Amino acid sequence: MKLAVVREKREAEKRVAATPETIKKLKGLGFDVHVEAGAGQSASIPDDAFKEAGATISADIGSALDGADVIFSVQGIEADDAAKAKKGALQLAVLNPFVEKDRVKAYADAGLMAVAMEFVPRITRAQSMDVLSSQSNLAGYKAVLDAAAEFSRAFPMMMTAAGTVAPAKVMVMGAGVAGLQAIATAKRLGAVVSATDVRPAAKEQVESLGGTFVMVEDEETAAAETSGGYAKEMSDDYKAKQAALIAETLAKQDIAITTALIPGRPAPKLITEEMLKTMKPGSVIVDLAVEMGGNCALSKPGEIVEAHGVKIVGHLNVPSRLATDASALYARNLVHYITPHVKEGALEIDFEDEVVAESLITKDGAVVSERLQEAS
Ligand code: NAI
Repeated sequence: MKLAVVREKREAEKRVAATPETIKKLKGLGFDVHVEAGAGQSASIPDDAFKEAGATISADIGSALDGADVIFSVQGIEADDAAKAKKGALQLAVLNPFVEKDRVKAYADAGLMAVAMEFVPRITRAQSMDVLSSQSNLAGYKAVLDAAAEFSRAFPMMMTAAGTVAPAKVMVMGAGVAGLQAIATAKRLGAVVSATDVRPAAKEQVESLGGTFVMVEDEETAAAETSGGYAKEMSDDYKAKQAALIAETLAKQDIAITTALIPGRPAPKLITEEMLKTMKPGSVIVDLAVEMGGNCALSKPGEIVEAHGVKIVGHLNVPSRLATDASALYARNLVHYITPHVKEGALEIDFEDEVVAESLITKDGAVVSERLQEAS
């Protein structure tokens, strides 16, 4: 069984889908692991470290993919590399399949079995494979550090001989995995933290981290959470009530970290230009939803912009800004996914397994994901 780990080609992508630790585990399962040269470079893992762990270094993607039964990648191989892979090869990667439809088709045409790791169901058994959680958690942490780096004041209250420095006020919008880590990180830095969400279940979690929960609660919020734990898009009436509450709260904040997402939909716009105008000069917004259209009306993907005295940070691929830890957790997620499907040194994929059934998006030349079929 050959397993290929490819070097990522996308801009701003520094992660790698394996580490020396996971190479050893994969070898233990019976895989002959080939790593494309330079794959770990931007995550501070040199080729030699992979080699010492037992991997073979392949000079280019063609030789890495040649004859591979399994492909490990962070963002997936490109459409024009798909034909280099063996027909029937299993690829594990984060694929953004609602948006990258052409690439999904290229995978199907090449006969790949492509798994979209972000489609792994959030059931207890699959928590160790949950790439959304492993990566969002780091993004939430980094967002607070990015905010602190742009903020010209301190986070904690400081009582000095020269007088007292007031603590920073941080508001986190969207209290999912990234938001909860942002709350915890901002608290650790000494900020006064509040948070909002549309799912009432978030209240207890926010409060247990020492944050104040602010939300518009009405008959709609009782049904705002899907069975999978995700948020639904809210009605225009709810959005208006929520906007009024956010406007009132935001005017008193120094920092806003926005993380609100709705699966398969553009991110909800939570901060309008009008609201920005009410924020204090020097305030900072870090928009973690920028790749999905942004929670702030003025955020720009990949840029730090300044508007009405407020800095709006729109870094792309925030987990990749902590490439070493993000790679280590992601690589373990992939090992946890594949392990139950290897029996005595042979790949035996259990297609009946709920995790596979929901995350496998192409097979036998066709798009097999129900979620994608429903969305098209
Ligand atoms: P996400 O990344 O899809 O969204 C981030 C947050 O934004 C969510 O909390 C969502 O409710 C919130 N949001 C959406 N629209 C909003 C709006 N208009 N205003 C304010 N907030 C809004 O969510 P994430 O982080 O992936 O978590 C989703 C759920 O999955 C949570 O309930 C979480 O606890 C659960 N979860 C379950 C796991 C498991 O059981 N294995 C693992 C990880 C998360």
